[in-house]
Amino acid sequence: MHLNAKALWVAHTILAVVAASKTLQPPSSHTSPHQQDESLSTDFWEQPGQLIHRQGPEDDPQTSLALDPSQIQTAYASQGLNESDSGITPSLTSTNNFINFCLTQDVPLTNGTQVGRGSCSPTPMGRIVAKDKMPSCKFIYPKNGSLLPANTLFDVKLAIRNFESGLYSNPNISYYSAPQTTNDDGLLRGHAHFVIEAVADYLSETPLDPVDFTFFKSIKEVPVNGVVTSRVPNGIPSGIYRMSTITTAINHQPALVGVAQHGSLEDVVYFKVTDNAF
Ligand SMILES: *[C@@H]1O[C@H](CO)[C@@H](O)[C@H](O)[C@H]1NC(C)=O
Ligand SMILES: *[C@@H]1O[C@H](CO)[C@@H](O)[C@H](O)[C@H]1NC(C)=O
Ligand SMILES: *[C@@H]1O[C@H](CO)[C@@H](O)[C@H](O)[C@H]1NC(C)=O
Ligand SMILES: *[C@@H]1O[C@H](CO)[C@@H](O)[C@H](O)[C@H]1NC(C)=O
Repeated sequence: MHLNAKALWVAHTILAVVAASKTLQPPSSHTSPHQQDESLSTDFWEQPGQLIHRQGPEDDPQTSLALDPSQIQTAYASQGLNESDSGITPSLTSTNNFINFCLTQDVPLTNGTQVGRGSCSPTPMGRIVAKDKMPSCKFIYPKNGSLLPANTLFDVKLAIRNFESGLYSNPNISYYSAPQTTNDDGLLRGHAHFVIEAVADYLSETPLDPVDFTFFKSIKEVPVNGVVTSRVPNGIPSGIYRMSTITTAINHQPALVGVAQHGSLEDVVYFKVTDNAF
């Protein structure tokens, strides 16, 4: 089974390389789709026995099935080991940007739906936010330690910075299906969420189960003066809660930023909801 999968993978890779070599074009030959008209395609031999040059939509690097040679990240061939740190886990390596990585994973390809049993995404990470443009946020309401009446409407207010928020793709059809992007100012384009989870008490030390939350919402509202307001229409039952943000790109993947060491992009507050005090 394992050998078969590996043999298939090798065969697939050879085919992919052959296919790629047939369509290789220097980057300068790329033209954008609006300049293309398939009816004008011309095939010719550059030199007998050499590459076929086909002017057509496949010259567009955004539709071509071949990896543009200028896009190969040769640094990914390194395991990244360092003699002075024996604890480093060797990185997986690739000389083709991991384009066929999911052939090594025995799960379906991520296909734009939310595959709850797990899947493998062939989507690149895409645009990574610069260090001086990292998004951040702070809950304005409820505040940490707030007391709220049970089962009563309230509005969450979240201050956000460096984030073009309120943009979201269809989570049933386009979940994780496109890379992260930024706007022209380099700010993350996407949307925030807030999720409210019950805790046993303020000092509880038990990690929560992410499957088991009380209220979850995508913040589709657009910020006004840097603050988004998003409603919890029926409130929540009495209890003690943790409320946290989840900052994502348009296609719902968590925000990716250019440096490993940074403050949290998210905010968390703990508050109490009670039947009694009101
Ligand atoms: C290897 O580790 C040493 C000691 O931490 C560090 O000074 C050096 O920059 C590291 N080299 C690389 C390539 O990470
Ligand atoms: C997406 O993938 C999942 C898991 O393989 C599958 O159950 C589902 O039918 C697929 N949906 C579409 C629209 O391809
Ligand atoms: C949040 O509020 C709770 C309850 O008042 C308190 O125990 C905790 O110290 C507060 N945490 C912070 C970071 O203020
Ligand atoms: C996604 O699917 C859920 C469950 O079927 C549905 O309630 C929701 O309206 C759908 N969302 C969109 C944007 O299609």
